[in-house]
Amino acid sequence: MLTGLSSDPKICIVTGANRGLGLATGLGLAAQGATVLMLCRDRARGEAARDEVASRSGQSEVKLFIGDLASQASIRNVATRILESHPRVDVLVNSAAVYASKRRVTADGLELMFAVNHAGPFLLTNLLLDGLRRSDQARIVNVTAPSTVQVDFEDLQGEARFSSLNAFGATKTANLLFTFELARRLEGTAVTATAVHPGLLRSDLMRESPGLMRFVIGLFSKPAEQAAQGLVRLAVAPEFRGETGKFYRDGREIQAFDYAYDPEPGGKLWDLTARLTGLSQWDGLPQDTDRPSPRP
Ligand SMILES: NC(=O)c1ccc[n+]([C@@H]2O[C@H](COP(=O)([O-])OP(=O)(O)OC[C@H]3O[C@@H](n4cnc5c(N)ncnc54)[C@H](OP(=O)(O)O)[C@@H]3O)[C@@H](O)[C@H]2O)c1
Repeated sequence: MLTGLSSDPKICIVTGANRGLGLATGLGLAAQGATVLMLCRDRARGEAARDEVASRSGQSEVKLFIGDLASQASIRNVATRILESHPRVDVLVNSAAVYASKRRVTADGLELMFAVNHAGPFLLTNLLLDGLRRSDQARIVNVTAPSTVQVDFEDLQGEARFSSLNAFGATKTANLLFTFELARRLEGTAVTATAVHPGLLRSDLMRESPGLMRFVIGLFSKPAEQAAQGLVRLAVAPEFRGETGKFYRDGREIQAFDYAYDPEPGGKLWDLTARLTGLSQWDGLPQDTDRPSPRP
């Protein structure tokens, strides 16, 4: 059994856990004996997935939490419920994502892909940091891709110009910028932050993308359960203990483009996202730190 503090089972949260990579990751973690908290936005789909993970893994400690990453109120609500029931969190896997062929805006006024793929995980992660800091070795794993699209800070919400593939790519770069900035901020703590590229996998993620693109993805993609293997190892295997600020594929470190490691866009995106999500201060470090807080 995977254990956290005091030999209790590890508490592992997976977002987007009702299908695709999130479901496969939940299954992989449960099969290793972790207590898996599956964060899904739809109760019926979540319950079906929870039952599937519990029955296929033989693990009874599989729990469902309902939360919509497109809604900051919902994220705040689910983070509170998680920490009330599980004050210590050992692993957070941010897997959920959406691809939208047209520009849509959430109730918070953010472009949908920016909200679900970047701002949502950013807020959720920050709100769960208290719980993660109670673990003796907590790991945050952000699922992304080796995007080379730079973030357009002048038009973050795609209001002036919108290309769906470009906007999606920018959110995957935002995942990289966030991971490496988070790792810098968490330096010296027992919480690590890494990014992972699962490779192309068979899923419904790109169902709104052009037919040719879906055809090509179909040709080269692998089953989600195969793609999840490296991710599960990164989340819990002893050999990755302490590894932080790195990008992985299949358990091996890969290089993102230089821009993703640059603290300038990383810090800028952090500050802007903190403002857009109403996070007024950086609570992840001890009070005596002299690291500057994001501006309100
Ligand atoms: N597929 C690939 O080839 C590929 C390649 C590289 C990287 N990735 C990355 O791998 C990750 C997982 O992708 P996938 O292929 O497994 O995608 P997927 O099968 O489409 O699953 C996406 C998951 O995210 C959830 N989700 C969507 N919007 C949400 C919201 N507003 N709130 C909460 N959850 C929401 C979905 O829930 P519903 O079922 O309710 O919609 C679903 O559980 C993503 O970060 C993706 O960028 C995928």
